[in-house]
This record gives sequence, structure tokens and C-alpha cells, in this order.
Amino acid sequence: MSKQSLVWIGKWTFILAAAGSAVGLGNIWGFPYKAGTNGGGAFVLIYLFCILIIGLPIMMAEIMIGRSSQKSPVNAMRLSAEKSDQSPSWRFVGWGGLISGLLILSFYSVLAGICLDYIFISGTDSGGMSTTEKFASQTASVSKLLFWHTAFILMNIIIIGAGVVSGIERIVRLLMPMLFVLMIVMVVNSIINGDFARGLSFLFAPNFSDVTPATFLSAMGQAFFSLSLGMGSIMCYGAYMPKDENVFNTSLTVCGLDTLIAIMAGLAIFPIIFAYGLEPDAGPSLVFISLLSVFWDMPFGNFIGPVFFILLSVAALSSSISLLEPSVAFLSEEKIFSRKSASIILGLIAWFLGIGSLLSFNLWSEVNIIGDLNFLNSMDFLANQFLMPLGGMFVAIFAGWFLSTKIIKEELEPGQKKIFIVWRFFIKFISPTLVALIFINQLFFS
Ligand code: PFF
Repeated sequence: MSKQSLVWIGKWTFILAAAGSAVGLGNIWGFPYKAGTNGGGAFVLIYLFCILIIGLPIMMAEIMIGRSSQKSPVNAMRLSAEKSDQSPSWRFVGWGGLISGLLILSFYSVLAGICLDYIFISGTDSGGMSTTEKFASQTASVSKLLFWHTAFILMNIIIIGAGVVSGIERIVRLLMPMLFVLMIVMVVNSIINGDFARGLSFLFAPNFSDVTPATFLSAMGQAFFSLSLGMGSIMCYGAYMPKDENVFNTSLTVCGLDTLIAIMAGLAIFPIIFAYGLEPDAGPSLVFISLLSVFWDMPFGNFIGPVFFILLSVAALSSSISLLEPSVAFLSEEKIFSRKSASIILGLIAWFLGIGSLLSFNLWSEVNIIGDLNFLNSMDFLANQFLMPLGGMFVAIFAGWFLSTKIIKEELEPGQKKIFIVWRFFIKFISPTLVALIFINQLFFS
């Protein structure tokens, strides 16, 4: 076995870190509102299907590429291409990942900042304002948004600057159990105060008359974003994974935990939305407007509200560090900067870019960058609908058609012949074709 330069110390750390990356605003904010606007159960079923047939094979591919080279994504792609007698230019996939990581971090931090702000807003009373007015007044204030955005980026710089083991490993060991406990508190609250039976049937009774091609594509995009695929985060964390951990079992566990948390988020939110006579299909404002009105109304709401927004913030933080890590790892691996300086410089770049997204809520709300999209939506479009699916598709094509069988067999446990055959089939044919479909659809028809 080759000597590894930098590895997670704890046995569960890869799972905690990768689940930390996967479980984020996408699960607790995005999944419920998308399920809510796409008819509930049918969306959930298609989503599960996508996690298994697109997500799992690509996650395994990213981990294998990362772990076999033990380098950050740019060098991991280059090295595994070279070891497979392919052109080193495959490193462009890694570069795409670094850029989309910083783009996503820039607006993710603005949204996470709003969640931090809402910890306090949901804990105090309305002061005579409706929740719609409250959201409008919070987002109209540039200084408030800037304050929370800066605080969130600073947390990322501190954690990433502290290092892989003393920073990331330490924080995910603290945040992930905390996230799980908070989620359980929210589901129990929903059983006590919500219309749980109606929430359950909304999420699990599929009504196929609601399914359109758009539902399918939206579920695929969501699965992709939710598992943090296609932009190097999982590849980068895979580089730190000890050689004796099993790639298939860990990937399955991470996909399972990500799905479990998304479903629990649905079970924490919909029953109380129904019990208070609100509609499930409010869209992105479901959490900040509809749910806040419930918290302001319900018994102990000024305790449960902050619990929910702490949960969202914790989930966002464990995801955002995985957006910064690939580029910081690259700059320090290349000895261009020390880890600390790289975290500060790249954190500042994301912070600066984030200002554009922050202004999209107020001063620049009418300023369009790409087509009729404002700055925030343009960043979201570029990263989520362009760079990530493209990155994922290239990872699948590379792993399926070009990565040497020797590397794959070294990475999969010996004796996992069936897993090798099934995985190879999916990564060669099914995953890239489906991702190409999402990509083309999102780019040209949405
Ligand atoms: N998976 C995260 C979420 O669901 O919120 C978002 C994310 C994190 C996407 C890291 C991509 C990534 F590399």
C-alpha cells in the first residue's frame, strides 16, 4: 500500500465530512420547496431514483479518482489521466470544479448569512410586521446582509485555514451529530404540533398526474446539487480517505444520509405548514416567509424557530467548507501559498463576488447579468446549471471510458466483482447520458 500524505484520522471522518458537504441548504431549504412545488410524492420517488442511478456511481468515481492520486481535484484528474495513459489535459475538469466551488460559495454564503440572521428574527416577536414584510426589510438592508455574509465567510476561512485534520475533521465531528439531533427535535415538534399524517401522505403518496418532464429534470438537478457532485468537493475529500475504507459502502452511506436528512426536513416542515393552513407550494420563500409565520404563531415557536435556523446554518457551514477546500488544497499543494494565506485569499475572492449576489436583493435587483437573470441568479445558473452538470458528465465519461481498470480494481475492494460490473455499466452508459440530458435541457429549455 502506498504511503498516504494526508488522511482523515477517525474511521468515520470521511463519511461525516462527505455527508457534511452533501447535507446543506439544498436538503433543508431546496428539497422541501422543490417537492412542494412539484407535487410531493412523485417528485420524491423520482429524486430517490436519481440519487441511486446517477448520484451513487458518480460519487464512487470521484472518490476513486481522488483517493488513487491523493491530490486536490486539478492534480487528481491530471495524475489519474497520466496513470491511465491519457492526456493530462483532463485536469480541466478539476479547474472547472475550483471555479464553480468559488462561485457557489459566493452566493451560498449570502443565503447562509440570511439563515444566521433568522436565528435571531425567529426568536423574537414580529413587532407588528408580517413575515413577508420582515423578509423584505431584512433583505433591503445592504449592511445587514453584508454583516452576515462576512461573518459566514470568516467562519469558513478560519476552519479551512486551520487544516484538514485540525479544521475540517474537528468541525464536522462536532457539527454533524449536532445537525442530526436538531433535525430530530424538529421532526418531533412536527409530530406534536403538525398534521403529521397529511405531511406523510404529501411526501410519500405519489400522484403521477403531477409528473411532467420538468419534474424529472428538476429532481435530477436537485439530486446532483444535493450530493455535491461534479465540482471536486467529494473528489477532494476522497483524497484524504484511508485506503482501507470501502468505496461502495461509504458512498452508499453518504447518499443514504443525504436522502434521510432531506426526507426528515420534509417531515419537519410540511406537517406544520398544513396544520397552520398554509400552502406547500410557496417556492423559495417557504422557509423564510411561510415557516416563519408558523414559528411566530406556535407554542414555544421562539425556541423552535431558532433551533430550525441553527440547523440550517450548521448544514450550510459543513457544506460551504467543502466548496472552499478544493481550491485551497490546490494552492497549498502547488506551494503557491501557505494553507492559511490561501484560505484568506480565496475566501476574500468569494466574499467579494458575494457582494454582487447580496446587492441582487436590493440595489441591483433590476441589474441583469446573463439574459434576464440578476447577479445572484446568474451565479446560480452558471454554477448549478452549467459548470456542475458539465463537470459531473466529464467525471462520468472519464471514469467510465478512460480511467484504467487497474486503478479501479485497486480502489474497489478485492472480491467486489459484481459491484465493479454494475458500477462500470452505469458510469459508462447510464449516468453520463442522463446528466447530458439534464444539462441540455437546463441550458436550452429552462
Ligand atoms: N450539497 C450542498 C447542499 O445540498 O446544499 C451544496 C453543495 C456543497 C454543492 C458542495 C456542491 C458542493 F461542492
